[in-house]
Amino acid sequence: MSRSFVFPVRAPTRRVTIRPAGWGDIEGMARVAVDTWGLTYVDILPKAYLARMRYASQENQRSRMMHAHAVHHFVAIEPTAGEVVGFASCGPTRNGGGEVPGEIYELYVQHGFQSRGIGRRLFKAARNQLASDGHESMIVWVLSDNPNLGVYPRMGGWRHARKTIRVGGASVEETAYTWRLDRA
Ligand SMILES: CC(C)(COP(=O)(O)OP(=O)(O)OC[C@H]1O[C@@H](n2cnc3c(N)ncnc32)[C@H](O)[C@@H]1OP(=O)(O)O)[C@@H](O)C(=O)NCCC(=O)NCCS
Repeated sequence: MSRSFVFPVRAPTRRVTIRPAGWGDIEGMARVAVDTWGLTYVDILPKAYLARMRYASQENQRSRMMHAHAVHHFVAIEPTAGEVVGFASCGPTRNGGGEVPGEIYELYVQHGFQSRGIGRRLFKAARNQLASDGHESMIVWVLSDNPNLGVYPRMGGWRHARKTIRVGGASVEETAYTWRLDRA
């Protein structure tokens, strides 16, 4: 009897688990943050600034965020190695609670795992959390030159505002997208 083998080009998305992050995930989240920043922002942010990003300092930053009131983190876990391959964080808007009360602060998926629906699943987990926390709307700020800007209108976001910020000594523009939230 002949046997045929199928070698999947990409791991099936359903095998990646999305769950709330715990303290044990901080190292993996820091790795995803540093790696994705380095690759995504290489032509947008100063190279010296990106080169200074370190796993250890990101771990410290993430530990502080874990302590912050009403801030939530979700991770995507690749089951074979139990590795963090993506994360999202969300909570009250950082600009002092303007007209949009909730915010997704970060959404990152490791390069080898992008374009498989993991970002959408993390986004949904964060959006549902903000809705069940009672926020009626939410905002995401994204660098206007980010090649992934188009993900947010694809997820139903409305372009809302633009602002210029300073990152690593350079002026860069950010674009905000907003969503109305239904109670989850
Ligand atoms: C942006 C990012 C989080 C998206 O996650 P992902 O797992 O790659 O995206 P998904 O496969 O879940 O795709 C979500 C939707 O966006 C679309 N999409 C994906 N990449 C896109 C891109 N670069 N431009 C436009 N649309 C895109 C997909 O087609 C999909 O739409 P659909 O479900 O209606 O078909 C991920 O690519 C990433 O981390 N990139 C590097 C870091 C980054 O830019 N983070 C955002 C910072 S604000």
